[in-house]
Amino acid sequence: MLIMKTVWVLNGPNLNLLGSREPEIYGKTTLRELIIRVKKYGRKLGLRVKHFQSNHEGRLVDKLHRIARRPCLGVIFNPGALTHYSYSLRDAISATGLRVVEVHLSDIEKREPFRRVSVIKDVCISQIKGLGVSGYLKALDVLLENQDKC
Ligand code: DQA
Repeated sequence: MLIMKTVWVLNGPNLNLLGSREPEIYGKTTLRELIIRVKKYGRKLGLRVKHFQSNHEGRLVDKLHRIARRPCLGVIFNPGALTHYSYSLRDAISATGLRVVEVHLSDIEKREPFRRVSVIKDVCISQIKGLGVSGYLKALDVLLENQDKC
């Protein structure tokens, strides 16, 4: 029996509004469409992709804890604005030891100064920004490339 490896995609606050939220910055793709694309690409790579979105920091922390209890290739994580100040999420990533790729649709380096800081960057294996939906697909490649490195 073929056992597919699991990758989790976690999205933080306001990403449920994708498609209608500032489309000039985040694009017109809805979260549902984005996840369909990621799942489809994941299947091509032989991966099972699961998704969770929350507007609540604690729920994201709880989810990371739960994910870490089962085998998982890694997590693609767009924490939204929590990226810039959530030490709880940073601690949850390092406490669980999960392999996390940080993803942002927009290029956070080229926006307001507060967005240039990522407090989770150092505990992630890679940061992908400014590639829109393709960034999530690239993150799947990164997780596969890094699977033997831990
Ligand atoms: C974001 C960038 C963050 O600064 C912002 O708060 C978001 C989305 C992105 O995907 O570009 O909610 O993470």
